[in-house]
Amino acid sequence: SWTTANVVEDQVEAVRAQIGDKRALCALSGGVDSAVAAALVQRAIGDRLTCVYVDHGLMREGETEQIERDFVAVTGADLRVVDAREQFLGALAGVSDPEQKRKIIGREFIRVFEQAATDVVADAQAHGETVEFLVQGTLYPDVVESGGGTGTANIKSHHNVGGLPEDLTFSLVEPLRTLFKDEVRAVGLQLGLPESLVWRQPFPGPGLGIRIVGEVTADRLSTLRRADAIARAELTAAGLDREIWQCPVVLLADVRSVGVQGDGRTYGHPVVLRPVSSEDAMTADWTRLPYDVLQRISTRITNEVAEVNRVVLDVTSKPPGTIEWE
Ligand code: XMP
Repeated sequence: SWTTANVVEDQVEAVRAQIGDKRALCALSGGVDSAVAAALVQRAIGDRLTCVYVDHGLMREGETEQIERDFVAVTGADLRVVDAREQFLGALAGVSDPEQKRKIIGREFIRVFEQAATDVVADAQAHGETVEFLVQGTLYPDVVESGGGTGTANIKSHHNVGGLPEDLTFSLVEPLRTLFKDEVRAVGLQLGLPESLVWRQPFPGPGLGIRIVGEVTADRLSTLRRADAIARAELTAAGLDREIWQCPVVLLADVRSVGVQGDGRTYGHPVVLRPVSSEDAMTADWTRLPYDVLQRISTRITNEVAEVNRVVLDVTSKPPGTIEWE
């Protein structure tokens, strides 16, 4: 019978059978799927799993710490955090076009992860061990969409460590490939992951990089991160997290408007609140948030984030608007 405990037990057994006495590697994204997949594999093979988290500096407030601290505390996983914040900012300098930003973020992510994977493989080799497996948080709907195959992944090795082949080939371990999202969440809770991680709303891979309309800079990221944290805290406090599919907060970094605060004129940036209701992100409606919640978010952001002097609400459905602004 289907119980979460059974699923965990079965998958742990299957992972042990697949990996044997070899080692595995997993890229954590900060999202639910990779975290649950990694936690399951950790339960199966312990320290023979190495997790890599690429800190690209485009996460929201507290998300990197959630992985570094909470995920590790619960799972005991061997985690390597790669601080690539400067590299990503450098690559994004001067770029405003949304698709260009996506390409750059994707390309830098692959570069950083390939380097980290090379290091993990080389370290294992130095101890006479091999890393043959790559863990991925593929869910059942992804399996159906891609036609059902499973297989291998190639990663370009970076030769500065020596003694490695040109391409590293890994067999895929996909412990969630029979599960739907709600089942993955149940498994995550069963494994002790925190609710705030397990119930995290969808967040795009390119992160805050595509929520700054304009060039991405360290200062703008800091501004958006503070505004976003306030919006999220107020929505959570109002008990609205599960009613909202997601609520991007977008910084219009190239727009300025005149305002007044205290006895001075301000000339600051607007942020947009984009709360949406949806089943699958293909279509969406704007969420009718209670006025008092909107009021608290607006007051707090304009009081607490000096660079922002206006909060606006996006009341566009999808279509014609997309959920994200970029
Ligand atoms: P849009 O903006 O197209 O978004 O209505 C639909 C859903 O996809 C997410 N999204 C992304 N996710 N990489 C991702 O991993 C991306 O480049 C990306 N762009 C949008 C968005 O947050 C929403 O859930």
